[in-house]
Amino acid sequence: MVEVKSSMESSFFNSPHFDDHEQIVFCCERDSGLHAIIAIHSTKLGPALGGCRMWNYAADADAIADVMRLSRGMTYKNALANLPYGGGKSVIIGDARRHKTADMMRALGRHVNWLGGRYIIAEDVGTNPDDMAMIAEETPSVRGVRGVGFDPSPATAFGTFCGIKAAVRERLGKEDLRDVRVAVQGLGHVGFDLARQLHEAGAQMTVTDINDTAVEKARDQMGAQPVGLEEIYAAEVDVFTPCALGAVINDATLPRLKATVVAGSANNQLAEEHHGDALASQGILYAPDYVINAGGVIHIHHEGPHYDRREAFTHVGRIAETLQEIFSLAHKDGIATHHAADRLAEARLAA
Ligand SMILES: NC(=O)c1ccc[n+]([C@@H]2O[C@H](COP(=O)([O-])OP(=O)(O)OC[C@H]3O[C@@H](n4cnc5c(N)ncnc54)[C@H](O)[C@@H]3O)[C@@H](O)[C@H]2O)c1
Repeated sequence: MVEVKSSMESSFFNSPHFDDHEQIVFCCERDSGLHAIIAIHSTKLGPALGGCRMWNYAADADAIADVMRLSRGMTYKNALANLPYGGGKSVIIGDARRHKTADMMRALGRHVNWLGGRYIIAEDVGTNPDDMAMIAEETPSVRGVRGVGFDPSPATAFGTFCGIKAAVRERLGKEDLRDVRVAVQGLGHVGFDLARQLHEAGAQMTVTDINDTAVEKARDQMGAQPVGLEEIYAAEVDVFTPCALGAVINDATLPRLKATVVAGSANNQLAEEHHGDALASQGILYAPDYVINAGGVIHIHHEGPHYDRREAFTHVGRIAETLQEIFSLAHKDGIATHHAADRLAEARLAA
């Protein structure tokens, strides 16, 4: 390999987020006001699949860093989900509530189309199935379109449920969830459905949410014990299940955790990578977020005219096997599980 070093210190080729991305495209269209960036990290396993985030970035450099980081994450996520896709992501710079228009979405769709199928776009924070419908007017390289796609949340909830069972087997040596104590943070699309499955499997539920109605529903329907937003971290439970926010494993929460398993659907649970190592040294088994929450993206792969729910959910259930492989690798090599997940993804990419 020829080493070519950029002399510009500020260049994104020197950014810590740059990881030999195959292609980074800046997309502008004056009439619609589109300012977007598409990053294709890798197409080694197939076209790069990843969502489109619309965010009011403080600086363009933040948007570039985000799209580089997120697209790399999708390469790893898709590889570990056994999907025939590489990793990509797009970001639109702007406030989704104030700046988003149908014309802007169509303009982005044209840019996606010019990539000739190398990037497949889907929804993410700040975009939704209606936006994907606008994009679909310009390109077939889109998933999760209103009226065509499906809600990915039930698949994400089921994958997380299977992942929790795998983690409980590994850490607590229990084959089922009867009387296992689980604290769910966030009872939204994923969290509520997941809490219901855990309850039906015999788990004792502790829950919290800023939405009182969801908490009351969980209490009434599942006998769940409601706790305060901060109390959830110190709950006397076996499993802590983040399904709301990112960065919930941090310097402030780590010393409070009583759980011996952290396994939930939320993205980016570790505030910093070293917090994953801290979990391991506290004897807490962490199910890496991007592995356990892959049910939605797996489900997207199965969408289409030949959709078979049983086949899709069987594929989602294999998240448990992947986690088992990660736990075994972490044990064998004496490393934290988030490092083991990355190693396994890299091995799949190298193969
Ligand atoms: N929906 C999917 O298919 C999917 C796929 C992969 C990852 N995820 C991730 O899983 C998480 C949940 O996704 P979702 O689709 O259920 O989102 P959602 O917005 O439907 O639910 C989030 C819930 O968290 C609650 N919440 C917000 N702040 C809170 C706080 N401080 N404490 C407790 N609860 C709080 C909200 O009231 C809401 O009920 C997110 O991190 C998301 O990125 C979701």
